Amino acid sequence: STGLITLDDGYANTGSCSSAITFIDGENGILRYRGVPIEDLAVNSSFIETAELLIFGELPDEEERAEFRSLLTENSALHQDMGKHFDGFPTNAHPMSILSAMISALQSHDLPEHQFTDANGFREAAASLIAKTRTIAAASYKSHVGQPIIYPRYDLNYAENFLHMMFSVPYRDYEATPEEAHALNMFLVLHADHEQNCSTSTVRMVASSGANLYASVSAGVNALWGPLHGGANMQVIEMLERIRQGAMTTRDYVARVKDRKSGAKLMGFGHRVYRNFDPRARILKDAADRLLDAMHVTDPLLDIARELEQVALADDYFVSRRLYPNVDFYSGIILRAIGIPVDMFTVMFAIGRTPGWIAHWKEVTDNPRQRIYRPRQVYTGPELSPWVPRDER
Ligand code: SDX
Repeated sequence: STGLITLDDGYANTGSCSSAITFIDGENGILRYRGVPIEDLAVNSSFIETAELLIFGELPDEEERAEFRSLLTENSALHQDMGKHFDGFPTNAHPMSILSAMISALQSHDLPEHQFTDANGFREAAASLIAKTRTIAAASYKSHVGQPIIYPRYDLNYAENFLHMMFSVPYRDYEATPEEAHALNMFLVLHADHEQNCSTSTVRMVASSGANLYASVSAGVNALWGPLHGGANMQVIEMLERIRQGAMTTRDYVARVKDRKSGAKLMGFGHRVYRNFDPRARILKDAADRLLDAMHVTDPLLDIARELEQVALADDYFVSRRLYPNVDFYSGIILRAIGIPVDMFTVMFAIGRTPGWIAHWKEVTDNPRQRIYRPRQVYTGPELSPWVPRDER
């Protein structure tokens, strides 16, 4: 045994903790943020309302919403010295490497009052990090395409401002359509938190040592980067593209996945917790349909994704292993339709997940009984071994 799990010690010995932020029922496909069903939030909530719900524990009233929104806009600009970090990255640097490095660097550049010594300081720090994550992502894109950084406008909401910061140029503002902005807002709401997933557990692990918010969230960005976690949304598009380019049919690809020697996975399928369906995947599938209809465009990758889902869900290999589409299977179709480059898909996941990471950092930091996470192990190495002098080895 690796020691008893006691909910209050938060991984003190091994992987289990108590949390009041997000509830998941994997058997019945239920996901709630602070008790509010994800289906209601996806349709009705702005991303910032959802962020406040996760971080402060309840949906904001009009005054709180307006105040937090202005905090976001006021704190969107990066310190001038942060620009020097951008210059140091090669233009082909992966956006996730830029994001994790820049969030860590923020600790040195962000305003001292954001060192969250009190509730107001934390409120500003949370707004500052959510705002600057968006600015860093858009700025890394602008740096990549050789265009000047565009700062947010007061009259736009978070999703509209992101598209403005990505696609406006000094001589012409990009006006996102209501459908694009709504789809991106929904994407961000659906990614805002997800209980003790790999990257959030990483944030909690780092926070348990007493590390600051920026260091903890930067670690979460790196955990999210992996292809089995947040990196899957990029892999799904690459998988669908391979099928579209005629390399193989959907049936061929499913057969390849079932042949374990290939090592191929059906990316965007499967989940440790959801054993029937991921409610986010259902919402994103419908949203992709609606967005493409509203834009009067079709995307062959969406047709392939639907066919792949049908073929897989008629195949006992997947059904017997309870493998269903997860949040990453359809999300990339929406990002593609909006014009987000594929190499930024995982960054989009990180922008969405930032409020959840902040909420979990706060929950760990505020817990007076929180102990440092120190998982135990089952030792499988050699028994006692004598020292062998070098000339006898
Ligand atoms: C996210 O935890 C979270 O909440 C994460 C997340 C969040 O919001 O934070 O929901 C976001 O990370 C979603 C997952 C994105 N990743 C992918 O889509 C990558 C493809 N999926 C798999 O790698 C896998 O399903 C995981 C990583 C998602 C879950 O891994 P598990 O729980 O360790 O599952 P497993 O490897 O134990 O699989 C059980 C069986 C195995 O077969 P057997 O050895 O029993 O014969 O199912 C097979 C696996 O080989 N399997 C798959 C598969 N996923 C599992 N086979 C083919 N394709 C897949 N996608």
